[in-house]
Amino acid sequence: MNVALCNPPDALVDVLRGYATLCPIRTLQFPNTLSFHQVHEFLLNHILLHPFFISYPPSPQYQQQFWKWTLAHLESMPMEEDDEIDYRLYHHHVSLVSRSTTSYAMGFIPPLPSYFTYFWRQGGGPDFESATLLESRTTIESGTTGLKTWGASLVLAQFLTVYSDLVRGKRLLELGSGAGLLGIIAANIQLMDSSACESIYLTDVNPEVLARCAENLSLPCNKSSSHPSIKTVHLDWTDSLDPIGIASVHDLLEEASPDVILGADVVYDPGIIPSLVEILRLALEHQGRTALIALTERNQDTLAQFIQAARMSLCVEQLQVTLADTRMFWGISDFGDSIPDQIVKVFQLSTRPDRPGIE
Ligand SMILES: C[S@@+](CC[C@H](N)C(=O)[O-])C[C@H]1O[C@@H](n2cnc3c(N)ncnc32)[C@H](O)[C@@H]1O
Repeated sequence: MNVALCNPPDALVDVLRGYATLCPIRTLQFPNTLSFHQVHEFLLNHILLHPFFISYPPSPQYQQQFWKWTLAHLESMPMEEDDEIDYRLYHHHVSLVSRSTTSYAMGFIPPLPSYFTYFWRQGGGPDFESATLLESRTTIESGTTGLKTWGASLVLAQFLTVYSDLVRGKRLLELGSGAGLLGIIAANIQLMDSSACESIYLTDVNPEVLARCAENLSLPCNKSSSHPSIKTVHLDWTDSLDPIGIASVHDLLEEASPDVILGADVVYDPGIIPSLVEILRLALEHQGRTALIALTERNQDTLAQFIQAARMSLCVEQLQVTLADTRMFWGISDFGDSIPDQIVKVFQLSTRPDRPGIE
């Protein structure tokens, strides 16, 4: 099941993508230049009544804001004689308001986890691919940052969809994979050509994050659910510096034997840098392997510390990433009003030529 986006105007696609990734309402643009009929038909049939969004809806709290906004705009659009707003739009909004009023009466309810659906066009074709994830809507939930998708993943995801040869036919290993967006996208790209399917290992330290990641990978709407060789595995970077834990790290790296190592938003705590660099060094020990690490620059010192530590044993090159369409994945709320490719830096890491790796 998927949302059939058969060439509607970009302005409507933008509304749908904004809705599907819970973009702040203030960042959405209502398609006022289109006719009432066209906009109304799209909102009713492609969003409200569409089976995809009935199965994988944004949270009720977000929907309430969205439908309030759309109804207010629809009501102020010029209408033809036969035009009217379908009662189901009003009915849906009223039912959301009454649900939230009941919740408020019971006390403050933090934002609930929600489905997020990211749409992208693969290889410049007309059709949209999609990745759906159940994500937390708070920065830290259950003591982990891994239950939501972070901006660095969105930038790296877009990078991989453009430079798809980086994942097609490659054995992949992701460090700190969180909710699983990059895995779903990599699986999707590999499945476009069945001969390009290789193993994809998504790793994380947190059991709850790994469970959520596995659930997201196996959602029937995601192509990753039919990938022959995608798995979630526990991997704690700190084991790379632990005399006992190191054996399990070696076992996993030998089993996964990755051509490409991925990591997004994995440098936010200076304390973790030595073990993260060590695990990258071990994973890259074999010739020809490469790592792509996307980092959000929140603190210049922390980023500089990571680069300095990594350069002690690895080649580190910053890639020039300019995103032609910065709204490709939307939902980039942790960037505020900044431009994603200016605050997310993508680095390519490999074995240093003066330290030849294993052939
Ligand atoms: C900020 S989140 C990023 C998640 C995902 N890559 C993204 O960009 O959406 C950092 C992730 O690193 C994981 N992590 C933190 N410390 C780790 C460690 N020592 N070993 C493995 N994973 C770790 C967390 O559990 C979390 O999933």
